[in-house]
Amino acid sequence: MREFKYMENLNKDLLLFSDTNTPAFTEIDFPLDWSMTRSERYGFIHVLKQIKPKISIEIGTYNGGSLQVISKYSEKVYAIDNDPTIIDRLGNKFDNVEFLIGDSKTVIPKLIKDLQAKNESIEFALIDGDHSTEGIATDIKNLLVYKPIKSLHIILHDSFNPRCRKGMKTYNYNNNKYVHYVELDFISGIFNPDDLGRQMWGGLALIILFPYERTIPLKVYQSELKLYNVVYKHSIHFLKNSLSFLKPIVRIFRK
Ligand SMILES: C[S@@+](CC[C@H](N)C(=O)[O-])C[C@H]1O[C@@H](n2cnc3c(N)ncnc32)[C@H](O)[C@@H]1O
Repeated sequence: MREFKYMENLNKDLLLFSDTNTPAFTEIDFPLDWSMTRSERYGFIHVLKQIKPKISIEIGTYNGGSLQVISKYSEKVYAIDNDPTIIDRLGNKFDNVEFLIGDSKTVIPKLIKDLQAKNESIEFALIDGDHSTEGIATDIKNLLVYKPIKSLHIILHDSFNPRCRKGMKTYNYNNNKYVHYVELDFISGIFNPDDLGRQMWGGLALIILFPYERTIPLKVYQSELKLYNVVYKHSIHFLKNSLSFLKPIVRIFRK
């Protein structure tokens, strides 16, 4: 649970969340710990508030930060995480959430098959589980097997991280006729969060599917690509990739 604090040198009426120094009134409805930046939270809340989904799927629950928003605006939520402690920690906090404990690679195909067979309308999904390139690519591939009944909005966290972004670019969106919009930089990411050695994290990508087929080619937008490229040159990811040719030599010396 997030804590409030009164800041020294500030007016006593100004109550802040102590984790992000955010004025409390802006997020007072969402007190659970949340692994997103302030701009991501506001973009995320805004999308959910606008679409009010019938059925939502969350991949990656952790402390329930994003789930508290999805639950508030959805009729029913399936929350998937491979951490079994989530049931004890969050099980009694939400009336409309069914927790599915396991690897999303196996849980999602079965869930999609069941919901499609029952003609249930999935209208929102968050992909924020396995952050490897392959993990993200697999979650996208497995989710996009679903043929939407109404519009389906999918938010993907950490599109600013090079490994995650690569996973998001792996899927051939043009081959799926129900995909009408892809933006990798719906909300921009951040550099060096919590002094994490020049790493790039955060950012929200957005995919929108409609229940009818697209008739024109799809453009995958990257509206902050210039920012991404500049930051990448100064990041640890660039340095590691540039030195990757040394890996075989390092392996020989380690033996
Ligand atoms: C970054 S946290 C999610 C944060 C949360 N969405 C939020 O905004 O507060 C990632 C979560 O994904 C879960 N996870 C990692 N790999 C997974 C997998 N293959 N299947 C299901 N869950 C996974 C982890 O246990 C962790 O709880």
